[in-house]
Amino acid sequence: MESLIEKVLISEDEIHKRLDSMALEILTGFDGRPITVVAVLKGALVLVADLFRRLPVKLDIEFVTAQSYYGGTETTGEVKVIGGLPDVKGKSILLVDDILDTGLTMEALKSQLIDAGADSVATCVLLSKVKERAVDVEADYYGFEIGDEFVVGYGLDYTGHYRNLPYIGILKEFGV
Ligand code: IMP
Ligand code: MG
Repeated sequence: MESLIEKVLISEDEIHKRLDSMALEILTGFDGRPITVVAVLKGALVLVADLFRRLPVKLDIEFVTAQSYYGGTETTGEVKVIGGLPDVKGKSILLVDDILDTGLTMEALKSQLIDAGADSVATCVLLSKVKERAVDVEADYYGFEIGDEFVVGYGLDYTGHYRNLPYIGILKEFGV
């Protein structure tokens, strides 16, 4: 599997160091309020497991499944929430996804959580692609900015695979 990786963009060590400082930013932002983490499956699985263990406050965790990609590398523009939303009424939400690309997923989930009565929704991603978004949304907390390239690992997949790589890499077929 690793032989299909063109290069390691962000190492496991770099990710973990950045999560330490990102967790402190989040703790400062929430200022002692209990956090309801809402993680976007499947991509945020690895990030959220590493991140929420760095947040030593009253915290609960919920999951949502959003689909914007259908197995390829192109978004369809439509974001579907599968299986509904958790009860977020009156809660301070930290919405966690793996990556901010077009912004469609984050924007759709954020507005649905607000419509469902969340008190506040702060957004968090490991990676933010530096590009023009399809909608007006940015992450309140992000680990790294990257170029507009397709990456895998640390939860991010290509056709369902590579999520288990401990680092962020670029696949050979997308490499330059
Ligand atoms: P957006 O809605 O376009 O911002 O895309 C968000 C979703 O697209 C993420 O949750 C990922 O599942 C997927 N995605 C976007 N860029 C990449 C990438 O470079 N690698 C793997 N998945 C990606
Ligand atoms: Mg995803």
